[in-house]
Amino acid sequence: MKSIIISLLAINLLVIPLAKAETVNIKLDLKNQGEAINPFIYGQFIEHLGRCIYGGIWAEMLEDRKFYFPITGNYAPYVSLTDTGYPVVGASPWKITGDPSRVKMVKKEPFVGDHTPHLKKGVAIEQHDLAVVSGKKYIGYIWLKSDNSKNARVSVSLMIDGKTIPGKVISSGDSYEKTDFEFTANKDSDRATLKIEALEGEVFIGTVSLMPGDNIKGMRRDTITLLKELNAPLYRWPGGNFTSGYDWHDGIGDRDRRPPRKNPAWTGVEHNDFGTDEFIAFCREINTEPMIAANTGFGDAYCAAEWVEYCNSGAKTTGGKYRIENGHKTPFNVKYWCVGNEMFGDWQLGFMQLKQYTIKHNIVAKAMWEKDPGLVLVGVGSFDTINAAFDPDSKQRNRTWSRGMLEESAEYMNMLSEHFYVGRVPWNQDERKPVLEHVPMVKNSIRERVEAHKKLQASIEVLKGRFVPITLDEWNYWHRDYVYGELGCIYDLQDALGIAMGLHEFFRQSKYIHAANYAQTVNVIGAIKTTKTNAEFDTTGLVLKLYRNQFGSIPLKFIGEIGALDVMAALNKTGEILTVSAVNPTDKEIVIKLDALSLPSDAVNYVITGEKDTSYNAPGKKRGVDIHNKGKVSINGGLKAAPLSASLWEIKINK
Ligand code: AHR
Repeated sequence: MKSIIISLLAINLLVIPLAKAETVNIKLDLKNQGEAINPFIYGQFIEHLGRCIYGGIWAEMLEDRKFYFPITGNYAPYVSLTDTGYPVVGASPWKITGDPSRVKMVKKEPFVGDHTPHLKKGVAIEQHDLAVVSGKKYIGYIWLKSDNSKNARVSVSLMIDGKTIPGKVISSGDSYEKTDFEFTANKDSDRATLKIEALEGEVFIGTVSLMPGDNIKGMRRDTITLLKELNAPLYRWPGGNFTSGYDWHDGIGDRDRRPPRKNPAWTGVEHNDFGTDEFIAFCREINTEPMIAANTGFGDAYCAAEWVEYCNSGAKTTGGKYRIENGHKTPFNVKYWCVGNEMFGDWQLGFMQLKQYTIKHNIVAKAMWEKDPGLVLVGVGSFDTINAAFDPDSKQRNRTWSRGMLEESAEYMNMLSEHFYVGRVPWNQDERKPVLEHVPMVKNSIRERVEAHKKLQASIEVLKGRFVPITLDEWNYWHRDYVYGELGCIYDLQDALGIAMGLHEFFRQSKYIHAANYAQTVNVIGAIKTTKTNAEFDTTGLVLKLYRNQFGSIPLKFIGEIGALDVMAALNKTGEILTVSAVNPTDKEIVIKLDALSLPSDAVNYVITGEKDTSYNAPGKKRGVDIHNKGKVSINGGLKAAPLSASLWEIKINK
């Protein structure tokens, strides 16, 4: 066996693969420390896309509760997107039972949106495919108004497998009134039906809602429980591509009167039930810092500044007054804002040429800072995009988007974003790489961006040596079929190992990367997956959770990449605990010997692994990949990194 000795004195490195192939020696110098890891690298991203918010975080069980789609005699709610095959609601999910001519969509004075359903005696509308759990309580309400001052009577009931659980018979007056109802399910079903029937007279149905009784401020308890465990310190919202077509005004005020709209960037309807107030409530509930991405696509400086004012200003401002009217006396104090999203790409609503966008960025940033000078602003970057195809000006042809942003806009930002997704994407299924190539992809992408920025930023005169920190506010694998709604792909053990290696790279690059948002969080390329009644960590979510909660914060500078093995180490704040983590993508155990350190004989050990590289998790099923807390293990013979695992050891330092 060839013995290699690498000695890099500058960084006190000594990596010696020993005679036995499975053993590596690593010399750690506890004094040779890197820049503290910013906890914000454990940030997350949620977007109004697929089943992230609706069907993932928000607890509403009904589809199209505000009747965006007209109810017709033709019940065909689900459409399938041809390129992926998953179903989405693309027409009204309300089915008429009885004579369809007795249901009309009335445009005059709609309760919300463009029209309101009007039902005559003897007809009902039903929503199928609701999932309920035996013994669980479900709570709801309905807004009703009689037509022509005739006193109408309406019944609301839940049907499970053909049997009816009566809810309520409601008499409605000649103005809209809200009536609550509740049911307790008597068996498990994912085919329950909510039925609203006009028993007497004629009636308008303003809107209706149904949620599990255990919801937390309108959010799913099961999802929120996992998000609390994930413990991410920063959440970016509302997009992504979504933000470039989002009018934040649609998402504030009386929730039932907020207009339903077509999602501007993705499939399906934006119900506007989860807006700024709900996002802040979400952040407070899971104890995280909000990061809002302002709309610089179809939006403008005025709109972005108004949003800042709504969130952060006092009672004397128009925005502050609105917020207070909506029940929030204390400003939200949203400090972190992205100024736009991926404005360099032709998939982005309102995308534009670099030379125009830098002007827009500066105007928007200035207007936002005028409302609140304390904001931390993140500009849109892309280290390798040259959007010259859209730009006839030759000066632009050799400028990458990040170069242009740094040259023209560096003083109007605190950080610059970069995004990446790696792996097989749905449109090139066959390109799956072998495990040993797949796992380092995320790490390599992070490093590539940092290396490019080091060169790029050093060459930009106006920066005068300053490095504008990078926010990797979208990063992940993105591949395989969509199972959990739009972009809802499953991750497996290989992906988990890749995410762990990615975190190692963030730790190594802590000087340059100050924040990162794993993209995304629930269902959509997410760390957590949900069915209608269950939520579960995907494999990658377990990695994020383990490192966020257990890994140290002061990284040690050493090169911990030995063949396929990737090792990282960090001290906790007080310097009393050393955490060492290793990602072993091979099919053999590798023993790591930490040289020249006086160590105790044992350490607490956590291992993320599964039976095979393709093992995965699914809500409501036994985990294929899990975090195994091994308790105290002996480390006398070295740290044993199991095959196909990410392992973490907490070692008390002998001082
Ligand atoms: O995360 C999915 C999409 O990927 C985001 O909306 C967009 O910013 C990126 O292209």
